[in-house]
Amino acid sequence: MSPTLARLLLLGCGLLLAALLGVWLATPAAPPPPPRPVAEPVPQALLPQVPLPAGSDPQSEALRRAIRNGERIYQRLCYNCHGRQGKGDRNPYLESIGHRPADHTDLADMQKRSDWEIFVAIRDGVKDERGWLVMPPWESVLTPAQIWDVVAYLRHLPRALPPPAQVAAPP
Ligand code: HEC
Repeated sequence: MSPTLARLLLLGCGLLLAALLGVWLATPAAPPPPPRPVAEPVPQALLPQVPLPAGSDPQSEALRRAIRNGERIYQRLCYNCHGRQGKGDRNPYLESIGHRPADHTDLADMQKRSDWEIFVAIRDGVKDERGWLVMPPWESVLTPAQIWDVVAYLRHLPRALPPPAQVAAPP
């Protein structure tokens, strides 16, 4: 190959690369992914009315906030098995294999568990005697603070009143 031809080839390659780079730079960045759909708020009429501590002191306010946040989380992630009212009546499959999800409105049963035991059950999930995970762990979904908010909600659920209006059952 003559030196001139080689130089021309090299120049051609350079031009091609520059053109490709130009096209790449000119291509607009991919649009940001659409925001994740936010779960529809659950109508109050379907939710048990959890007693909220009265009082305007910071402690009561913090507890009220925790219970409200716990409710939001519970009614998004947990109701599918434990039910809107927390009675553990929403998962016929688990029930059919002998693992009725816990009834969180059973005060006597809930009082057998410490806050820490409830926290760990939510964080790590629950295994049965064969080692099967019958309740999923939530560690990768919820922060410890969020789990504590759910614990606060669960602590108040047994004393909740039924929903204000029993409208059509949720789908
Ligand atoms: C896939 C169904 C399912 C989902 C979803 C689910 N649970 Fe459970 N949960 C179970 C079952 C089943 C049990 C009963 C386990 C057993 O004792 O046999 C249980 C038990 C529990 C217990 C009692 C644990 C113990 O000490 O025995 C707590 C507390 C609990 N769940 C909280 C939650 C919270 C909070 C959420 C949502 C973040 C949630 N669960 C979501 C199925 C589920």
